[in-house]
Amino acid sequence: MIAGIDLADPGLAGRAATGLAVVEKLLDQELASDFPFVTEAALHLMHAGGKRFRPLFTLVAAGIGPHPEAPEVATAAAVVELIHLATLYHDDVMDEAEVRRGATSANARWGNSVAILTGDFLFARASRLVADLGPDAVRIIADTFAELVTGQTRETIGPAEGVDPIEHHLLVLDEKTASLIDTCARYAGMFSGATDDQIASLRRYGRAVGVAFQISDDIIDITSTDSGKTPGTDLREGVPTLPALYTIQGGSDLRLIDLVTRPLTSESEVAEAVSLLRASDGMKHAVATLDGYAAQAAAALSELPQSPSRDALGSLTQFVVARSR
Ligand code: IPE
Ligand code: IPE
Ligand code: MG
Ligand code: MG
Repeated sequence: MIAGIDLADPGLAGRAATGLAVVEKLLDQELASDFPFVTEAALHLMHAGGKRFRPLFTLVAAGIGPHPEAPEVATAAAVVELIHLATLYHDDVMDEAEVRRGATSANARWGNSVAILTGDFLFARASRLVADLGPDAVRIIADTFAELVTGQTRETIGPAEGVDPIEHHLLVLDEKTASLIDTCARYAGMFSGATDDQIASLRRYGRAVGVAFQISDDIIDITSTDSGKTPGTDLREGVPTLPALYTIQGGSDLRLIDLVTRPLTSESEVAEAVSLLRASDGMKHAVATLDGYAAQAAAALSELPQSPSRDALGSLTQFVVARSR
């Protein structure tokens, strides 16, 4: 089991391990710079850990096509991790996060300017690497990055007057998180030679599991102490996630509504909000919404031919659901 993907099939497990080793090598190569500090700042979080979920997802999904070992698949897997990490450097500035991947965030260690510039450097290196994959792949990642930052912007600005905050939030998750996972699925299908129909199903799967992944990540922010991030970060920042939004919509739990509608500076208020949210109807509602996306993901997957890769992707859906319980 890696990053929630059960690699039960020995052939698939071997291919994934070989692919991940190639990806790590590409990542290290791409982060080399004439100015050692730039490399140090970029490698800081690259080597701090991270599940490598997007590269692994790409390598596994490539098993749907006839050529999963095409070298372009591993290159694409490295590109998506570089893009992902670039967005984390920027996200931690925006969210004023102090811990990432179990390490001090770049902004906490070197300040916002270095964190932003390092994110830009990672993005530049992703752009250089994706050029090896041809103009279609470049256009796809450019559109993906635009969609992702649109989601981050939409979250920052908040819902317009008259827009349902939950609809707004689910659109944000689709844009900021599912867009890149969709692209992992798309690259996997394209470069492994999958059919257009298979690529469409893979992409639908990526979208649904991507939203589910973010909802479960937000639930874990409330319920877990070992996520590699500071628990309750969203609550401290006053960023309402799905359990909080359903609580606000419910309208009855006045103390909790007060706690989730403003940033929290006192540790005792964070602890109170965490414990109330864990037991709240809003949490139950968020879990039900997560299950709905997982069901959509499973339905998209069932359109694909039976194979070890399809089974492995199915285990991912179950993991995303299970880790939030
Ligand atoms: C974190 O992604 C940001 C979200 C979209 C929730 P991951 O949970 O994949 O983070 P790493 O790569 O393992 O650090
Ligand atoms: C992560 O977003 C960054 C993107 C999805 C682009 P969040 O702010 O929701 O995730 P964490 O909790 O910091 O990983
Ligand atoms: Mg964040
Ligand atoms: Mg954020």
